[in-house]
Amino acid sequence: MTSKDEQLRTEADEEVKKHQELVQQDPYRLRYHLMPPVGLLNDPNGWIQWKGTFHLFYQWMPFKTDHGAKFWGHYSSEDLVNWNHEKIALTPSEWFEKNGCYSGSAIEHEGRLYLFYTGNVKGEKGNRETYQCLAVSEDGLDFQKEGPVVRLPDGYTSHFRDPKVWQQKGRFFMVIGAQTTELKGAVVLFSSSNLRDWKHEGILIGGGRGRLSEFGYMFECPDMFTLDGRDVLVFSPQGLEPKGMNYLNVYQAGYVVGSFDPETGQYDHDDFHELDHGFDFYAPQTTEDEAGRRIMFAWMSVPDQDEQAHPTIAYRWLHNMTLPRELKLIGGEIWQLPVLELEQLRIGAAIIHNVQLDEEHVELAEVNGKALELLIDDITVTDGWWELTIGGAVRLLYSKGVFTLERKSYVDGAFEKRQCEVEQLSSLHIFIDTSSIEIFVNGGRKTLTARFYPLTNDDSIRFGTNGFATFLVHKWRLGT
Ligand code: FRU
Repeated sequence: MTSKDEQLRTEADEEVKKHQELVQQDPYRLRYHLMPPVGLLNDPNGWIQWKGTFHLFYQWMPFKTDHGAKFWGHYSSEDLVNWNHEKIALTPSEWFEKNGCYSGSAIEHEGRLYLFYTGNVKGEKGNRETYQCLAVSEDGLDFQKEGPVVRLPDGYTSHFRDPKVWQQKGRFFMVIGAQTTELKGAVVLFSSSNLRDWKHEGILIGGGRGRLSEFGYMFECPDMFTLDGRDVLVFSPQGLEPKGMNYLNVYQAGYVVGSFDPETGQYDHDDFHELDHGFDFYAPQTTEDEAGRRIMFAWMSVPDQDEQAHPTIAYRWLHNMTLPRELKLIGGEIWQLPVLELEQLRIGAAIIHNVQLDEEHVELAEVNGKALELLIDDITVTDGWWELTIGGAVRLLYSKGVFTLERKSYVDGAFEKRQCEVEQLSSLHIFIDTSSIEIFVNGGRKTLTARFYPLTNDDSIRFGTNGFATFLVHKWRLGT
């Protein structure tokens, strides 16, 4: 540990102590999601189950509710439900990372935990340098920095970051989010036999070539993995134009499915799909746990999307993670399911209502609250629309094959919406946590994720239809 590193840790710890009380007083503070203790959180990093314990690192700016020279904060868990905030894993203390230890990934090798991350450096003339760096740990708590292992190759701008590393057929691979000198988004492939010497294999997707040749100016946070025998590449493209119900957020996060040949580095794939259809979802990262599940976390926000208008800023914190979600590949598409462990969050027995609505709106006894899970099954809707309003600030609407999420904007109070096609609505699994909502439609085939700010004394939930609807409601109160 260098003296600069020590100083930064001390300053961050003091910042947490100084604002702890204020942060905890925020009525919009979440009850069962991961948040920064103070300051701003963004991408999930280094997500891994290592020696039985889950480790989730995260992009953290402890000193303000804005972006800047990021730290790697660290949470650990035995069960994906109860999390410990560990000591800071990485501080931007060295020349090669002085403006931020940016996003990256973790891999286990010979009993040690390896972290790969981007060292972000800003020069005096506003120029940027980027270094892909390595830090290694024996115990999962203290990390020994080894410095840059990958330098910027020719052909790319310095928007080159977010290494994700995996092992396949006895070799290591790394994907990096990039921008070519022609200002096209790309994912770049590297390979290695020892995790320290890396060979630039070239562009995996994008870069003005192939199926995604015209697809934005920058790809962030790539993640390549095998699911049900197919090779999935998740990434977050920037610069897509809105298209119908798609690409409505400032930036997107999604995936392609295909087949990757580790011998040639070639990747043949199908079209891009967005992973989530709500307002706040970006930079997802996955890992395979020891039980063989592919589990994903994402940042519940989008860069440059009215971030400074969130009311939590008055309480000196900003943003949170999604819940951990298990991924399945069904019919060539990714489905997302809340991990089963989340059932441990349930307090007491379910409140159950078997509901029939005929051109009416109702509130159901004990179906309300600020931190709850709703499972709405066996939905049938005849002649019209079906809706659910939450805290007067969110409305879910199903009508004629389209599912709509409407929320009261935290910028100007106007209602704004996101939509996706849902052929026949049969079930909704909803997690509400004070100021966040995650909606899993039809068993996880579609998801919609958003922050929202209801009046703090409004915990109402209302169901309605202008036709005839039947459905079964299960509600649990949630907490840790
Ligand atoms: C995505 C991102 C990454 C970068 C990190 C910086 O949200 O911009 O590309 O590494 O955040 O915090």
